[in-house]
Amino acid sequence: MLTVLRFSSELLSLVARKPQEETAKNTDVLYSAATQYFPYAISDVKEGDVKYWCRCGLSKDQPWCDGSHKGTGITPMAWKVTAGRAPAEVAYICGCKHTKNPPFCDGTHNGLKEVVETRQSACAKRDGHAQDCKLCTRCGWVPDF
Ligand code: FES
Repeated sequence: MLTVLRFSSELLSLVARKPQEETAKNTDVLYSAATQYFPYAISDVKEGDVKYWCRCGLSKDQPWCDGSHKGTGITPMAWKVTAGRAPAEVAYICGCKHTKNPPFCDGTHNGLKEVVETRQSACAKRDGHAQDCKLCTRCGWVPDF
């Protein structure tokens, strides 16, 4: 009985959280900047390397993280290069930051530009974008790269 009450209490505390808190912690609903609408072809990784794929889209060292994500709520993804990758083999790393198979390109970039532009033009924070220092995670708007 005590276990059931404790479980119910924990469940209630989860349900009672404010939606904004959930949104701020869930990177799935934070929009990255689409750095480009095609992948990066890279061939300078080897088995055992650990690379940090930029997910915010702000890094100046694409497709890898340079720390520019700080303050956005979006974090890089670690990619450990596994066995089986031939030396100098080309990997196509997502440049649009919307792939469903990170860090690899899965073709999501096709037609994405129109989707991003529509989302940005409908963004509730659109009028405040000039004050956003580097990225509006509600729509993926950034000042010109
Ligand atoms: S560049 Fe992102 S899915 Fe192709």
